[in-house]
Amino acid sequence: MINVGGATPAVAIGPTAVTADPGAGSLRREVDAVLAEFLGGQLDATGDEDWRHGVELLRSFVLGAAGKRTRPTFCHLGWRACGGGGPGVARVAAALELFHAFALIHDDVMDDSDTRRGRPTLHVDLADRHRRRGWRGDAERFGRNMAILWGDLCLVWSEQLFCSGGSADRVDRVRTLFQRMRVEAMMGQYLDVRGEVAGAGLDDCLRILRYKCARYTVERPLQIGAAWAGADRAELATFSRIGIPLGEAFQLRDDVLGVFGDDTCTGKSTLTDLRDGKATVLMALTRQAASDAQAAQIDRWHGDPHLDRAGADVLREIIVDTGGLRRVEEMIAARTEEAVAALHEASIVDDARTELVGLARRLSVRSR
Ligand code: IPE
Ligand code: MG
Ligand code: MG
Repeated sequence: MINVGGATPAVAIGPTAVTADPGAGSLRREVDAVLAEFLGGQLDATGDEDWRHGVELLRSFVLGAAGKRTRPTFCHLGWRACGGGGPGVARVAAALELFHAFALIHDDVMDDSDTRRGRPTLHVDLADRHRRRGWRGDAERFGRNMAILWGDLCLVWSEQLFCSGGSADRVDRVRTLFQRMRVEAMMGQYLDVRGEVAGAGLDDCLRILRYKCARYTVERPLQIGAAWAGADRAELATFSRIGIPLGEAFQLRDDVLGVFGDDTCTGKSTLTDLRDGKATVLMALTRQAASDAQAAQIDRWHGDPHLDRAGADVLREIIVDTGGLRRVEEMIAARTEEAVAALHEASIVDDARTELVGLARRLSVRSR
């Protein structure tokens, strides 16, 4: 259930809570087994106590139950949709999850987020460790520096895991897509961070969402899995027709949850996006439809680092009253149906199609 009004819901909108994660069941077990083995292997690389503590932190961040395994799931389904031939795709899927750990750890530093997956973010946790140990200097700076470093390490490990995924031929065939996915994710982050400070209209916000999420989270993982199974150029194009609308719907839902979600469910604060003045389609549509008085309130509160619950409620009310929320819900529904139609048209393995259709529908109404 999406609550308008934060902790004390004034109005209830939208679907009931959906907890089914994309990466449930055997895929999750398989990917997690690869990650557990890989990360376990890194623990003993050195006898240094703080290093070991850092690797343990990463291990619990990556393997914690709260991660949805969205990218590994799309990768696996892309592979199955194309016949799933050759060696398994689990190591490559796990490499995507490690890349995502890197992206999230750095994203939380960039967005100054305190909570992720229901726990303190890595930089907050490491700043606390600095304080508990009574170390010299600025604890926050230490936390951020260490989080950048541990995030970098996940990036390196993700490459290492990817390269060990199968034969050199197969890895080479898929490498270009993996490369593109990583550059696009960074492009998306660049546009996102710039949008917060330079301002962003609806077209800019749509572009941010396409790079930051549609390509990175859905299209490329599907294509990477498909290419691993030997898909040709035409088959890869099919996954763009499916992945782009589905990925846009995914991020639009994320943006709605970022403002109206239940933070005990999403594991993230519902103040961060508003405090950061995040350039989202939701805010761009709200701004377009706002009266002068509402626009003044948006200018006052959106992007205010000291925004409190009352200020957030003012913004939430404006987002609802202008029809911004309704329009985003319509966009989510339309894009989900576009992806489902593309799935029905695609020449892919039937049981993977059925799973993808189910997943598309579940993700469009997810609550975390
Ligand atoms: C994160 O974007 C995107 C990547 C990590 C590539 P956001 O900043 O919008 O996501 P949340 O709300 O922190 O998860
Ligand atoms: Mg963020
Ligand atoms: Mg961000």
